[in-house]
Amino acid sequence: MLDPSYKPYGLEPIETASRDEIAALQTERLKWSLQHAYDNVAAYRRKFDAAGVKPSDFARLEDLAKFPFTTKHDLRDNYPFGMFAVPQDRIARIHASSGTTGKPTVVGYTKKDIDIWAGLMARSIRASGGRPGMKVHVSYGYGLFTGGLGAHYGAEALGCTVIPVSGGMTERQVQLIVDFKPDIIMVTPSYMLAILDEFREKGIDPKSSSLRIGIFGAEPWTNSMREEIEASFGMDAVDIYGLSEVMGPGVANECVETKDGLHIWEDHFYPEIIDPETGAVLPDGERGELVFTSLSKEAMPVIRYRTRDLTRLLPGTARTHRRMEKVTGRSDDMMIVRGVNVFPTQIEEMLLRCTGLAPHYQIELLREERLDVMRILVEARPDCSDRNAEAAMLAHHIRSNIGIGAHIVVHEPGTIERSAGKARRIVDKRPKG
Ligand code: DLL
Repeated sequence: MLDPSYKPYGLEPIETASRDEIAALQTERLKWSLQHAYDNVAAYRRKFDAAGVKPSDFARLEDLAKFPFTTKHDLRDNYPFGMFAVPQDRIARIHASSGTTGKPTVVGYTKKDIDIWAGLMARSIRASGGRPGMKVHVSYGYGLFTGGLGAHYGAEALGCTVIPVSGGMTERQVQLIVDFKPDIIMVTPSYMLAILDEFREKGIDPKSSSLRIGIFGAEPWTNSMREEIEASFGMDAVDIYGLSEVMGPGVANECVETKDGLHIWEDHFYPEIIDPETGAVLPDGERGELVFTSLSKEAMPVIRYRTRDLTRLLPGTARTHRRMEKVTGRSDDMMIVRGVNVFPTQIEEMLLRCTGLAPHYQIELLREERLDVMRILVEARPDCSDRNAEAAMLAHHIRSNIGIGAHIVVHEPGTIERSAGKARRIVDKRPKG
């Protein structure tokens, strides 16, 4: 765990710049970005024209609210390359996010975009406590997903030794950690739990591993999950956030010395929080949907991109850049069970209070006699002595804290679906329509 004498290292001047300096830079870069999008992407030109706004209508940060939002639909409608703002021969790389339905969302980068991304990932790893010369085990998937290559280029840019393992083959993950002795692991928190189980399965104490820092993201996870992972490995677990449409991982990252939410790298991304129903911009501190405008992206600028992630903006602490609170969930993941809004992270929080249950879970939504029913599949820990008592305890926590009844099914250890990347938390079995 973090040495009390820990000092941030190698800060770029912008990480501690005054709010005025940050706002001046954002204003200047937003002017460029709006003009660039308008001049070079027909879809933006059409949207701006339809809304009756021009890039020249932007003079101050507040003016951004005049511009139309961009959504995943815009990207889908312009599949595959219609949102690109530079000719194809300037595109250095393409990534795509799988998307659960229909066409993937395609994103592109110029050489300069890739360099900025690597720089921001290096900054994120450094904020997590990473230093040049450390060994970094990357278990985010390599390929069209931005996790693997994003982490890889960032770790290289910081001067680390990269071990590009990618996701899957859990036994081999553990073997490589034992043999190569990495300092840092970058992986989804749910897959980290699968790696943790494998350590125990092999009879290796995870605390004896060389891992000191975990940089976890790509899916929501709770502070209780952080405690579980930190205590098991004796490491610092830090949150990293990003999305392919905006760049990939490294849009925001926690600082290891405070672990109090993720600093948004505001020199490259301008955040807003909006009311998801009305689209109105909300003041800092209020919870709503996170929206990003890119400030430097050449290949695929995004203007007021609606992430569907729910959080709030908070003032900077370890850095002057504003923080976003740990994402509680996506609006798409919100379940409405008998009129109560529930996110999987709330269930995770309750589950981690039950000492006999392992933090692997899946939530099934069913309909019985025209009523929604939530069934939670969990696993007993190997040393669990009374499964019924644990199930009753979890149901009790959920009823008294969230206000809904849930049917709990406790399975054998190791039986709930594991994913080598993002976990699938919700299985909706309700009849459609
Ligand atoms: O998940 C990029 C990434 C890779 C981030 C590795 C962090 C680490 P997408 O596949 O486009 O990109 O998915 C983006 O994942 O809108 C959030 O809903 C969710 N997400 C990403 N990071 C976090 C996080 C990558 N730290 C979507 N906490 C986002 C909660 C997260 N949700």
